[in-house]
Amino acid sequence: MRIAVLASGFGSNLQAIIDAIVKGLIDGRVGLVISDNNEAYALERARKNHIEAIYVDPGQCPGRENYDRKIVALLKEWDIDLVILAGFMRLLSPYFVGEFQNRIMNIHPSLLPAFPGLEGVKQAMDYGVKVSGCTVHFVDEGLDTGPVILQEAVPIYDDDTIETLHQRIHEVEHRLYPRAIQLFKEGKLRLEGRRCFIDER
Ligand code: GRF
Repeated sequence: MRIAVLASGFGSNLQAIIDAIVKGLIDGRVGLVISDNNEAYALERARKNHIEAIYVDPGQCPGRENYDRKIVALLKEWDIDLVILAGFMRLLSPYFVGEFQNRIMNIHPSLLPAFPGLEGVKQAMDYGVKVSGCTVHFVDEGLDTGPVILQEAVPIYDDDTIETLHQRIHEVEHRLYPRAIQLFKEGKLRLEGRRCFIDER
């Protein structure tokens, strides 16, 4: 299984996926890392791990679909089976989603459908919920609206800051994302409408 990771920033989830592959927890390889941000540390992580790292400049391809056509062309050129969004700060066009139907995953730092979009951790704290968490889901055309694959709750403590809470959520993300990817690899994710069942034998 050839995986592409799309990331705009720090890339700790990318690192967790690379580490899980090394540990044998994911039967696959990251063939390609793509970013819309030339400064993304995720690109640096890819290079350090001898993975092809490509910056696709949004300024060079104005319009969402135009940009996505460039990315999809790269994914096809690299024979990618699964697309992993890990802190990728762009909404995918219907064209992109259609080309990789049910083969794109995202991770979001809240228990969806609560607190979608930007700053999910801050939204949860501002709202005052006692429990938040993270969600791995398939990507559809909406903003964080696709079928949920895995979720895990993380409690919010009185003395939490956005940073401390995000840190604990990150720790869960780094465990959950590799697991979802390996379940996909093993063909254990079965979609029925919005529901994603896990076929454990
Ligand atoms: C994660 O919290 C993820 O849930 C969200 O963006 C963040 C990316 O972090 N989509 P990193 O770049 O993987 O460290």
